Amino acid sequence: MAPPKIYKNFVGGEWVESASGEAFDNLNPANCSELAGQFQKSNSSDVAAAVAAATDAYHSWRLTPPPKRGEILFRAGRLLMERKEVFAEAMTREMGKVLDEARGDVQEAIDMTFYMAGEGRRLFGQTTTSELPDKSCMSVRSPIGVCGLITPWNFPMAIPAWKIMPALICGNTVVIKPAEDTPLSAYNLVKTLDEAGVPRGVVNFVAGFGPDAGAPLAEHSAARAISFTGSSEVGRTIAQTCAGSFKHLTLEMGGKNIMIVMEDANLDLAIEGALWGAFGTTGQRCTATSRIAVHKAVYAEFAKRFVERARGLRVGDGLDPKTQVGPIINESQLKTIEQYVGIGREESAKLLAGGERLTGGNLAKGFFFAPTVFGDCDAKMRICQEEIFGPVASLIPVSSFDQALEVANGVVYGLSSSIYTRDVNKAFRAMRDLDTGIVYVNAPTIGAETHLPFGGTKQTGNGHREAAVTALDFYSEWKTLYIDYSDKLQRAQIDT
Ligand code: NAI
Ligand code: MG
Repeated sequence: MAPPKIYKNFVGGEWVESASGEAFDNLNPANCSELAGQFQKSNSSDVAAAVAAATDAYHSWRLTPPPKRGEILFRAGRLLMERKEVFAEAMTREMGKVLDEARGDVQEAIDMTFYMAGEGRRLFGQTTTSELPDKSCMSVRSPIGVCGLITPWNFPMAIPAWKIMPALICGNTVVIKPAEDTPLSAYNLVKTLDEAGVPRGVVNFVAGFGPDAGAPLAEHSAARAISFTGSSEVGRTIAQTCAGSFKHLTLEMGGKNIMIVMEDANLDLAIEGALWGAFGTTGQRCTATSRIAVHKAVYAEFAKRFVERARGLRVGDGLDPKTQVGPIINESQLKTIEQYVGIGREESAKLLAGGERLTGGNLAKGFFFAPTVFGDCDAKMRICQEEIFGPVASLIPVSSFDQALEVANGVVYGLSSSIYTRDVNKAFRAMRDLDTGIVYVNAPTIGAETHLPFGGTKQTGNGHREAAVTALDFYSEWKTLYIDYSDKLQRAQIDT
């Protein structure tokens, strides 16, 4: 077997080794005997060099006209389109999601790149009148400086793109520290940006582990804004770090997303949606459907048919076109899922499907887990309260719409929710009363589009929204301008 390819960091426009000279393996979770390359094991000195390069590059990038920045992003978007198939395959090899979904991930990066490229000719502010004569007022977006981006493994190219593109179009420079399980997709994105003509030092890429490379980035005084997606625990630590210097921070963390199925729902559609929401990306989405509240009038039928379909899903290597559910990202995540299945059993939820690791045939080489369904769950059980991040769905019987809402809102998270009903009154009440950042009607809890705000309420985040124009609000600061052409001192609130 050929030795694995060693990928370098990208700092100040150069591909460089880490200061330690050490590298780490990027495993294929479907087949651990295969490596998707080796990456630099970076530490605080690599991060410091990257932040220094980004600080240098900021002086001219902030003055580059936004439409020119946009032209570079348009070129990057076209290159990504050409490379979509290659990048999707690389993603499946490093992360496991089925090829079709990996294509979707790259497509999301493409969409975000074109969307933000277009913002280069907008970046609108406001102009307004003054309360004083011969005076004009306006507000404009200004860049912040160096942004530190820390990303998870479940959307290895989409999430880096969600953060890099709005940061760049606003005139910031960036240092990205991708997840240690999936550095290749972020590498492919950064390399494409370089080839599209992003100037040296504007985008820097530092691979490595959270405590070694992520923490120093969050701590660095010259990284003025930090954008993080990942676990609540790490998010909390980063928030504490950033509080010390009042650094701008956006956090996108967990979910415990619910699908509500009312007695008047189209059950075929609801079952189809629940399968996709719960087991798409092997349940490893922050928006995954992990709770399904079903009205008692249709509960038995829903449970029976949903379980049958879940049992029939084909689990395997995502590169095999017949596979519907890929592997779990790594061994520790697999253990977490096993633990939660144990917890569900102890809580006397009824295990209706799955519940175990799969090791038959080729599956022995990877981290596979059977699509799992718990039935007759109580909304207060830990499996109905805590994020599992795997192919586990809990069915909760409910007797009314009001009870469904109460169950839905009875968790600490508030990312996504969904309702299946043909009753317009219930649909509108749900849209108003579900306390989540995203609500779907007659569709599962997953499926965000890049031109709409993305994020959650309560402990899912800290109030910011990614994607859409709302992302620009995080990656820019409002600057307010007063222009007095009266040739005399005019005092607001006094001389009116
Ligand atoms: P994690 O939060 O440990 O990792 C996310 C990123 O943060 C990675 O780039 C990691 O290297 C970095 N990081 C880790 N420790 C850090 C530190 N002390 N300072 C700065 N950066 C640090 O998430 P992990 O371990 O990959 O997954 C654990 C759980 O997190 C999952 O089971 C799931 O519940 C949740 N998660 C949520 C995601 C979401 O989309 N909201 C995505 C991935 C994970
Ligand atoms: Mg990997």
